[in-house]
Amino acid sequence: MMTQPQAGDETAEGFVAASSIDDVRRLVRQARAQSRRIGCVPTMGALHAGHVSLFEVCRRHADFIVATIFVNPTQFGPQEDFQRYPRPLADDLRAAQAAGVDLVFTPDAETIYPEGFDTFVEVGGLSSVLEGEIRPGHFRGVATVVLKLFQIVQPDVAVFGAKDYQQQAVLRQMTRDLNLPVEIVTALTIREPDGLAMSSRNAYLSPKERKSALVLSESLALAAARLANGDFDLGAIATAMREHLASGAGVQPEYALIVDPDTLEPLSAPQPRMTALVAARLGTTRLIDNREIVLDEPS
Ligand code: PAF
Repeated sequence: MMTQPQAGDETAEGFVAASSIDDVRRLVRQARAQSRRIGCVPTMGALHAGHVSLFEVCRRHADFIVATIFVNPTQFGPQEDFQRYPRPLADDLRAAQAAGVDLVFTPDAETIYPEGFDTFVEVGGLSSVLEGEIRPGHFRGVATVVLKLFQIVQPDVAVFGAKDYQQQAVLRQMTRDLNLPVEIVTALTIREPDGLAMSSRNAYLSPKERKSALVLSESLALAAARLANGDFDLGAIATAMREHLASGAGVQPEYALIVDPDTLEPLSAPQPRMTALVAARLGTTRLIDNREIVLDEPS
């Protein structure tokens, strides 16, 4: 029978939820002593099928899986949804256990940011464009907390979702620049049957907004289809993507671009690998999505 773990409990199956750094370090040390490769999936909780797929990907790269659940205050702007971000901890622990996670780290804010905390990680240019321009300080908060989580868990491999495309690019750059001994794996976006990318923020959408939200994945499909049909006018495609976003009832487009997958620089000419990115606001909810586009080699 599935146990209903609370933070701090260790179950018969070996699943543990721990909120202290010392406990996490002790449990990871034990796993490492058994020659287990340590994988980490940082999350902010409100776990859904997208997170479960991150755990599954992590399991392919590691044999002791640590999920972290922490709604990180430093990555939210003053007008953002930090207070209302969902925190269904008991459900999350059940979901993590059912997904085969070995250890869940559920620190409180004082554990991560004790009194006097004053050190932050700034990842240069990649952090200041697109999401970074719209959400100043966001990636500083993400990079800082992820570096701290890496220091606590000391994983061999960490998995992030492709849905937050810029985030995984920023974290790859941080890992490279700071010589962190962690392999970064980016896992494919998981979508609802109608194409909406899974996100904890989808829960904020009213039924009407949920319907309109489809314009995000549709505008990415539009870009992919036009490129696949040999239309290489990237400016015109980006305009069409933006117009498609705006056609959704109540949707305010923020950006629609085709960029280089590594530098995130907007492209003026096609290249073999590209990434289409979109962001839009629906009422008080912001959604982002992206799609990798690979052009067929000419035969
Ligand atoms: O993607 C998220 O859920 C968060 O940005 C992360 C990586 C857990 C850092 O707080």
